[in-house]
Amino acid sequence: MRVLLTGGAGFIGTHTAVALAEHGHEPVVLDDLSNASEEAVRRAAAIAGLEIPLVVGDAGDAAVVGRAIADHGIEAVIHFAGLKAVGESVAQPLAYYRVNIGSAVATLEAMAAHGVDRFVFSSSATVYEQPGAGLREDAPVGIDLGNPYGRTKAMIEAIVADAAAADPALRAAVLRYFNPIGAHPSGEIGEDPKGVPNNLVPFLAQVAAGERASLRIFGDDYPTPDGTGVRDYIHVLDLAEGHVAALEALEPGVLVANLGTGRGGSVLEVLRAFEAAVGHDLPHEVVPRRPGDAAISTADPSRAHELLAWRATRTLDEAIADTWRWQQRNPRGFRG
Ligand code: UD1
Repeated sequence: MRVLLTGGAGFIGTHTAVALAEHGHEPVVLDDLSNASEEAVRRAAAIAGLEIPLVVGDAGDAAVVGRAIADHGIEAVIHFAGLKAVGESVAQPLAYYRVNIGSAVATLEAMAAHGVDRFVFSSSATVYEQPGAGLREDAPVGIDLGNPYGRTKAMIEAIVADAAAADPALRAAVLRYFNPIGAHPSGEIGEDPKGVPNNLVPFLAQVAAGERASLRIFGDDYPTPDGTGVRDYIHVLDLAEGHVAALEALEPGVLVANLGTGRGGSVLEVLRAFEAAVGHDLPHEVVPRRPGDAAISTADPSRAHELLAWRATRTLDEAIADTWRWQQRNPRGFRG
């Protein structure tokens, strides 16, 4: 299939482009490069051994998306485009609603105008109203989520459901990501955050590289085995393969699936895995909890296994080793 990846020059998009190519599909990237780089697409193409066309443009403009669909004979769209920083979304809610909701609506409109009916959406475990262990897809989802970023994901899920109810031809998948980490084992592509990373693994990578003084552990008094927060860290290659599986399993209507491992890792376990990869201890200190953080968030991934014949196979240690390889080879990310 010829697949358009909106926001496809980013961390998850580039890995998904490689996975699509490995499964015989033809990825085309549409990205405004506001938080991604052309170099990432070039490297993904080199890994995949094929050309990956890059259309530089805004997925919030239905005419731009429509032109990309027409020019490249697109048969399916994976919609990654959007803003993704929780803290920033609290400070700039309108930008989040405009960009995230606007790009989803424009992309669906352009698809409808061009008769494209296969759609996969990047959602997030953040849509669950009550975080916890072994979350199932039928757990309550709503907009009472504490931050605008999460709300945009839940709202787009509702928009996709409404669009599918109105158009029986639409075949959609909503994929709720847990915590994507890792990098391609080649060390050629990986996560390239701008500024101070918000998320644990990219921050730790910079501590390991000596760019940041010390990891701040946000609380060690949670009701978890070692007192630190527990998350379901999933290797980005497993996540990418989940997109390919979803694309190939699409049926009329909306398929909703968690993409997680089902295993929890604590902040201290991630720290130890990083120390093992680096070969020495890393500076860290315990500080108060980060507001809004849950004690635990892990998936029940059984629906994805049943419906998509997919499951995550890579370990936390592999993901951390791949992160460290990427970090060491690209201390300045894609900036060279
Ligand atoms: C965060 C977002 C979530 C988003 C996800 C992926 C918040 C509150 N949640 O999830 O909406 O979908 O990223 O982008 O921001 N930690 C530290 N020190 C750090 C960073 C993190 O101890 O410097 C801890 C956190 O308290 C948490 C764990 O590490 O227990 C993972 O944090 P993070 O990587 O930011 O992911 P989430 O909080 O799960």
